[in-house]
Amino acid sequence: MKIVSAEFIMSNSDVAKCPKNKLPEYAFIGRSNVGKSSLINMLMQRKNLAKTSGRPGKTQLINHFLINDNWYLVDLPGYGYARVSKKDKKTFQKFITQYFQKRKQLVLGFVLIDCRHEPQPIDLEFMQWLGENQLPFAIVFTKADKLKPNALKANIEAYQKKLLETWETIPTYFITSSSKGYGRDQLLDYIDAINKEVND
Ligand code: GTP
Ligand code: MG
Repeated sequence: MKIVSAEFIMSNSDVAKCPKNKLPEYAFIGRSNVGKSSLINMLMQRKNLAKTSGRPGKTQLINHFLINDNWYLVDLPGYGYARVSKKDKKTFQKFITQYFQKRKQLVLGFVLIDCRHEPQPIDLEFMQWLGENQLPFAIVFTKADKLKPNALKANIEAYQKKLLETWETIPTYFITSSSKGYGRDQLLDYIDAINKEVND
């Protein structure tokens, strides 16, 4: 898919205030600092469209970006940010779960996973929760530039094995690097194919 335009539309914490039109949208979710906002910039080839930071907790609201005037990318706050109590750490921010449960325009969520780490309970729990709520998702492994090919392969295989403890089949997944541009065409083609299905 060719990106012709990418425009920031609005930020808010209330799903009822999100854009009213019926365009399909795709949301990026995952732990703080996993690279959600960076991935949006990489896909759109824009340095500062979404705000990024080396410190976790940068994105605090639901952010809508209108792409090619006919679909939205949504940047969400991270979960699992450590500067909250242990109890809160395990729960997902209420407006995030409400966004997933109430937003009818949401076609698919991309769950971002840092490819360097072994499977984290909070990510597995979030995917489980999506499954229980019948919300479609795909996995995006991020920061692939940080690992050598063999280590990357080993980590992806270990993750697949972990997923098979819960899931009958491994969800669709992508391997990306925002700094190197890996995975850009695959992700955009995937979204393009779904948009075409939605529009049919
Ligand atoms: P929150 O908004 O805080 O939830 O974080 P986020 O998931 O939006 O992460 P963000 O895009 O702000 O990136 C966090 C840090 O990771 C920044 O320092 C980025 O430069 C870095 N980063 C993101 N993606 C990549 C990548 O693919 N490779 C490398 N090497 N660094 C990355
Ligand atoms: Mg962010």
